[in-house]
Amino acid sequence: MKWTEFFTSSVGKKLVMALTGLFLISFLVVHVGLNSCIFNDLEWFDPNDNGRMFNKAAHFMGSSVVIRIMEIGLFVGILIHAIQAYVLYVQNTSKRKIGYKVKMGTKGSTWYSKSMTLLGTLLLLFLIMHISHFWVPSRVTGTLDPVQYGDTHTHDLFARMVAVFQNPWIVALYVAGCISLGWHLLHGFQATFRTLGVSNKKYLVMANSAGLIFSILVPVLFALMPISIYLGWIG
Ligand code: HEM
Repeated sequence: MKWTEFFTSSVGKKLVMALTGLFLISFLVVHVGLNSCIFNDLEWFDPNDNGRMFNKAAHFMGSSVVIRIMEIGLFVGILIHAIQAYVLYVQNTSKRKIGYKVKMGTKGSTWYSKSMTLLGTLLLLFLIMHISHFWVPSRVTGTLDPVQYGDTHTHDLFARMVAVFQNPWIVALYVAGCISLGWHLLHGFQATFRTLGVSNKKYLVMANSAGLIFSILVPVLFALMPISIYLGWIG
């Protein structure tokens, strides 16, 4: 089998989904870690932080060439992951119209792939809104307020977050985006382990448990960001 044939085969497509998914997950680890610096502004830590820790960390990441190159990879990864998902979905549903000789009944994956596609689409819409809130003013239009910490001149992404999350509808959309992310991650992890051929029962239980913890912890941390700002715990 040639390379091109492999990547256009059903297994190849699933492998592309799994690998781009794992890459996007590694981005989420960095993103949630960096954003969690905003929690330093909580009463328990340093109420006078006012976004200093987060803005400095974001500035450090933004000025690294490696991170900027990874950012291009990230957008390409999101695009490939989304396009491949739609191709697989269309293929699966059109194949199913022909019907199986042995009926699968409720065990069929129609609902599963529908929910993954629907929530994936919601996530994509969330991402378009999200990027227009932060990434565009920060990296494209440069319309954020300047801020200075010692010798470091940067822009006030924290103030932008505080401004964006004063709107309860936006906060609700972000929380909905985080719930979609959790569900998508949970099923994405399970599908990835299957695609990568984790068949040993002990390893599968361990991998699925780690996937479950990640799929809850990361979206909860993300959701706490707009909620804490809206409730005035931060900012
Ligand atoms: C809910 C809480 C979240 C907050 C407060 C938040 C905040 C931010 C901020 C401030 C930026 C701009 C970074 C910069 O320009 O330096 C950004 C970028 C980005 N965020 Fe989020 N984010 C959140 C959740 C998410 C989620 C759940 C995803 C993915 C599913 C995501 C994906 C992205 C992407 C793709 C970018 C652009 C790439 C980059 O700047 O590295 N974010 N986010």
